[in-house]
Amino acid sequence: MLNEKIAKLINEQINKEFYSGYLYLDFANYYADEGLDGFAHWYEIQAMEERDHAMMMRRYLIDNGIRVTFDAIDKPDKVFKGLSDPLEAGFEHEKYVTSLINNIYSEAFSLKDFKTMQFLDWFIKEQGEEEKNAEDMVKKMQLFGHDAKGLYALNQELSARVYTPSASGPAM
Ligand code: FEO
Repeated sequence: MLNEKIAKLINEQINKEFYSGYLYLDFANYYADEGLDGFAHWYEIQAMEERDHAMMMRRYLIDNGIRVTFDAIDKPDKVFKGLSDPLEAGFEHEKYVTSLINNIYSEAFSLKDFKTMQFLDWFIKEQGEEEKNAEDMVKKMQLFGHDAKGLYALNQELSARVYTPSASGPAM
């Protein structure tokens, strides 16, 4: 049986992961509206990955005898003034998510909950990758996004992203 506090934190994180998916779909809506279908596609896939993260956490709780409960998912309310804004917001959001995962990890560490630490190892690595991806997007946009050709090429590059289910993660 999991410690009550750990179970609560992971249950809350499920909501945050679904929110992340909702947020990234909102980014996709913005880019679709701007005619940048490659950017929209990239964030649609990101949203699917976020759902996978939520489902992995849900499964972990269920497999440990915890009754999962759902809260309302917040409305994405970011206002974008330019094409770089979602990319920068995405980078900030991933840093925030990393801090949340680190917080759960640190609680698990202090409770000597080695099972949860092992479960979270996948997420620690994933956050490292997601922060890097988000930062790369910001940098590429700064470098190439300011003329039509560069933006076109970037849009093409992002349209090639392929969805890979996070099934290699734990507890699936
Ligand atoms: Fe589920 Fe983008 O972290």
